[in-house]
Amino acid sequence: MNSLHAQAASPADTSNRPISLFIPLDGIIGAETDGLDLSRPLDGGTVEAVRAAFRDHHLLVIRNQSLDKERMYRFAELFGPIEGHMIRLADGSKWDAVHTITNLDAAGNPVAKPFISSNYFWHTDKSFLREPSLLTMLQAVELPPNGGDTQFADMTAAFDALPEATRRRIDGLKSVQSLEFMRRYTGSAPPTEDDIAAAPPIAHPLVRTHPETGRKSLYIGMYSSHIEGLPEEEGRALLEELLEHATQDRFVFTHRWQHGDLVFWDNRCLLHRATANFEMGKHRRVLMRVVVKGSVPE
Ligand code: SIN
Repeated sequence: MNSLHAQAASPADTSNRPISLFIPLDGIIGAETDGLDLSRPLDGGTVEAVRAAFRDHHLLVIRNQSLDKERMYRFAELFGPIEGHMIRLADGSKWDAVHTITNLDAAGNPVAKPFISSNYFWHTDKSFLREPSLLTMLQAVELPPNGGDTQFADMTAAFDALPEATRRRIDGLKSVQSLEFMRRYTGSAPPTEDDIAAAPPIAHPLVRTHPETGRKSLYIGMYSSHIEGLPEEEGRALLEELLEHATQDRFVFTHRWQHGDLVFWDNRCLLHRATANFEMGKHRRVLMRVVVKGSVPE
């Protein structure tokens, strides 16, 4: 039995307070457990405990998992409907609901610049859609010997830390989120006409309110092209300034992957990015991924 299990109720514990399975991570956000086996269905109380921990911590790490696609899908859908994917890969195929993200080429060899490399820039998933992603879940399949971390930045803490005058200035503004802009910004292949037609640029609040906690957070990242109603240059400067502020070390948690990790996070209040801190052309990095659909940001 380890330190996590040591939090379970002792016979002397007569309080009705639910016992948390999760302990906070060593950073500004997140919590972890090694006390769950997701290969089997969870009872209702455990599901509620995981949902509550997700609401409180926004980033959860569940250790020692080895889920197949079906089980990962089933676990993710406890948080809402699973999202489909419109983006086409190099071979023209679309991602399955549960897919892998890798640094491998079509022959399965590691490459220094993978076909999809925009995930190495700060972003919140699918903010270019009317209903962007709520939650993204990754499971370690193959890891490099060192590095290959994923970083998360806390947009609620970043908003709270802004000067009062800036908070007043930006609350009520809308930023335009664009797939086409993101592809240019990250040096990726331009989207097809069909992609643009399926997901035209859309304006979302620059400061969004979390539907469960009621807290405000910055809603920015690589899809944020410009600010509605501001001259383009002024809007870009504001977006760059906010991104620089929000991704300072004090708001960032770096997840160093361990074999068996299943990690999921709240795209409504966190930014994330992959980190190229390993020899990408030499070592394989493969993660299974599934995304839960969200609602219109308010
Ligand atoms: C992602 O952006 O969804 C994946 C991040 C990672 O590869 O660490």
